[in-house]
Amino acid sequence: MDNNEQQILHSWAVNAKPWTRLVRDKKIESRILITNKAIVEAVVETQPKTFLDIGCGEGWLCYELFSRGFNGWGVDGISDLIESARCMGDVRFVVSSYSDLPSQKFGVINQFSCFICNFSILGEHTLHEIAEAGQSLLESGGKIIIQTLHPVISCGDFPYENGWRKTSWTGIADESFHPAPWYFRTVESWIHDFHLRNYRLLKLLEPYHPITKKPASIIFIFERR
Ligand SMILES: C[S@@+](CC[C@H](N)C(=O)[O-])C[C@H]1O[C@@H](n2cnc3c(N)ncnc32)[C@H](O)[C@@H]1O
Repeated sequence: MDNNEQQILHSWAVNAKPWTRLVRDKKIESRILITNKAIVEAVVETQPKTFLDIGCGEGWLCYELFSRGFNGWGVDGISDLIESARCMGDVRFVVSSYSDLPSQKFGVINQFSCFICNFSILGEHTLHEIAEAGQSLLESGGKIIIQTLHPVISCGDFPYENGWRKTSWTGIADESFHPAPWYFRTVESWIHDFHLRNYRLLKLLEPYHPITKKPASIIFIFERR
């Protein structure tokens, strides 16, 4: 794991408690207005028999999907976040980095019909690790549903090209945050990197803000060949 990727995990370990409060107190406007509904709808439309929520954080999306009758697991590299998820009553949560996913056990499920990554592919190599994990943990024809910041919007004034970026924010609402670097990818590069690894793009969605009409995120749905 390179230094930037290590810093991402370190920051999430520091941010685990404030992040859990922010999500559960519904303090992130874009999530409440747009992106939570968008990812839930994308999964529901896919109708997976089983899902793996990769980088599940404190587990809100797993619980939303459990309540709708979907069977699956959540996984995250930060033990405090997984503990917060389990505290809500379900045991289907595992602590793992993305690189260790293929060696984990998920009850009786050996292969999933869907991976979900909701704002959780933050590094350069993490995309490759998840694509690689899919070779053993995802059924042939299985889907990877990814929601992330829209590259055209999140690019800001920087050149529209792949590369590591610094986070400018150190807080949301009343909570302070330990900043972490993140890896910017163009839309073309997201698609190209999955195509190279034997996945094809099935669908691309651009949920937008109801008032500004600007894209709030982008959702890619890939299928394992
Ligand atoms: C922005 S949060 C999103 C959490 C959750 N998906 C949600 O929608 O609330 C990103 C999550 O990805 C996890 N994560 C990032 N890189 C990881 C890695 N290499 N291995 C394991 N977890 C990772 C972090 O611990 C964090 O919980």
